[in-house]
Amino acid sequence: MKVTVFGSGYVGLVTAACLADVGNHVVCVDVDAKKIETLKAGHCPFYEPGVDDLLVRNAKAGRLDFTTSAADGVAHGEIIFIAVGTPPQEDGSADLQYVLAVARTIGQYMTDYRVVCTKSTVPVGTSAKVREALGSTLAGRGVDVPYDVVSNPEFLKEGAAVEDFMRPDRIIVGTDSPRPLELMRALYAPFNRNHDRVMAMDVQSAELTKYAANAMLATRISFMNELALLAEKVGADIESVRRGIGSDPRIGFQFLYAGCGYGGSCFPKDVKALVRTGHEYGQTLQVLTAVEAANDHQKHVLFDRIQAYLGDLSGKTIALWGLAFKPNTDDMREAPSRVLMEAIWAAGGKVRAHDPVAMETTRAIYGERDDLALVPSPEVACEGADVLAIVTEWAVFRSPDFAAIKKLLRTPAIFDGRNLYAPKAVADAGFYYESIGRKT
Ligand code: UGA
Repeated sequence: MKVTVFGSGYVGLVTAACLADVGNHVVCVDVDAKKIETLKAGHCPFYEPGVDDLLVRNAKAGRLDFTTSAADGVAHGEIIFIAVGTPPQEDGSADLQYVLAVARTIGQYMTDYRVVCTKSTVPVGTSAKVREALGSTLAGRGVDVPYDVVSNPEFLKEGAAVEDFMRPDRIIVGTDSPRPLELMRALYAPFNRNHDRVMAMDVQSAELTKYAANAMLATRISFMNELALLAEKVGADIESVRRGIGSDPRIGFQFLYAGCGYGGSCFPKDVKALVRTGHEYGQTLQVLTAVEAANDHQKHVLFDRIQAYLGDLSGKTIALWGLAFKPNTDDMREAPSRVLMEAIWAAGGKVRAHDPVAMETTRAIYGERDDLALVPSPEVACEGADVLAIVTEWAVFRSPDFAAIKKLLRTPAIFDGRNLYAPKAVADAGFYYESIGRKT
C-alpha cells in the first residue's frame, strides 16, 4: 500500500520504517530540511535499537523515501499518518498547532480519497478538530474530495519500539465508518500474530484508550513507590510485596517496580493532559492528581537521602550512574536524574555522571558547567566522588566490582534508585546502602 507519514520524530519514523519493512511504499514528510538530509544519508536522528537498520534497508530497497514536500506526501499516500509533536503547553494541555497545520496542508493538496490517521498522542476530541480543519480547507478551495479521519494511537515503548510495532498486543483503530476500517485492517494485517490484533471502536474511545493505558501504568508505579516508602517505615520489603501481589493474575507482575520515579516523554505529559481533560469537562480525576503528586515527591527521595547522609553538600561530589529516564534510550525528558542533579547543584554540590548513551543529550541540555563532569565509564564517575547514586538501571551497572568502587569513593555509600543489588551483598562488601523500599 502507499503510505505517507507526516513528522519524522520518534513515532513517525518507527511507524514508517516498520510499515516499509513489510512491503509498503512509505514517504516521510518533515518540515525540518536538515533532518530529512540526515535521514537520506541513512542516519537516524535519535537512538533507538533497530531503527537505523530498518531505515537503511528499506530506503535501499526503494520502499522508504524522505521529503520536505508536503504536496508530494499528500499525492503519494492513500493512508496519511499525522505523527508530529504535541508539546505540552504551560497549563498542561497538548499544543495541537502542528497536528492541525498538517490537517490543513492535507486539505490544501488533496485531490483523491484519503484516510487521515492521527498517530500523535492527542486529547479526546482532536480527531474531530482534524476533520474540521481538513474539511474547511477543502471548502476554502471549493472542492469536495472524500476523506476519513481515524484515530490510531501508538503503544511503543522507547528502547523496544520496533519490537512493539512488529509484535503489537493490540492495534486500536478508532473510526465511525467501514471504508477506512477495511484499509487499516489491510495495512496492519502483516502484524497480526496468531489472531487479529485490530480493535475497532469509535474515535473518542480510541483517543481515550491511549491516555487510559499510560495513566494506568503510571498509577501502578506511583502506588508501588508510595508503598515502598511505607515498607521502609514498617520494616517490610517491597520486593517481597511485589512478588506477593504480582502472583495474582488480576494484578500481574509487570510495572510494579518501585524506584526513583517515572519519567519520559509520555507518562508525565499524559497524566497531566488527562487531568486537564477532566477539568475541561468538569470532573476532577482525583486518583491521577495523586499519582502525579506522588511521582513528583518520589523524584526527590534520592536527593533527600543523600543530603541527610552527607549534610552540607557544598564542595561535595556525587557520582551518578545513569542519566536517561530509562535504559536503552538517550532520552532525558522528565528524567529523575535531572531533578537529582538540579537539587545537588542548588545545594552547592557537583556531579560526576556516566550514561552509556545519554551523555550527549545531557550536554545539549545543560551545556559545559563546572559542577557537571560527564565521564567515559562508571568507574571514572566514582573517582574522588563522595557517594554514588544510581538512577537508571542500565545492564552495565548491574554487576559492578564493589571492591574497586569502594577504593574510588571517599565514603563507601550507594544510593540506589532502581534496587539493582541485594542489600546484604552490598553491605557485606562494606558499603552503606540505601535502596527504595527494602531492608538495609
Ligand atoms: C510508555 C508506555 O509504556 C508505552 O506503552 C507507551 O506507548 C509510551 O509510553 C507512549 O505513550 O508513547 P515509555 O515512556 O517509553 O513508554 O517508557 P516505559 O518503559 O513505560 O517507562 C516509563 C517510566 O516508568 C520510566 O522512567 C521507568 O523507569 C518507569 N518505571 C517503569 C518504573 O519506575 N517502574 C516500573 O515498574 C516500570
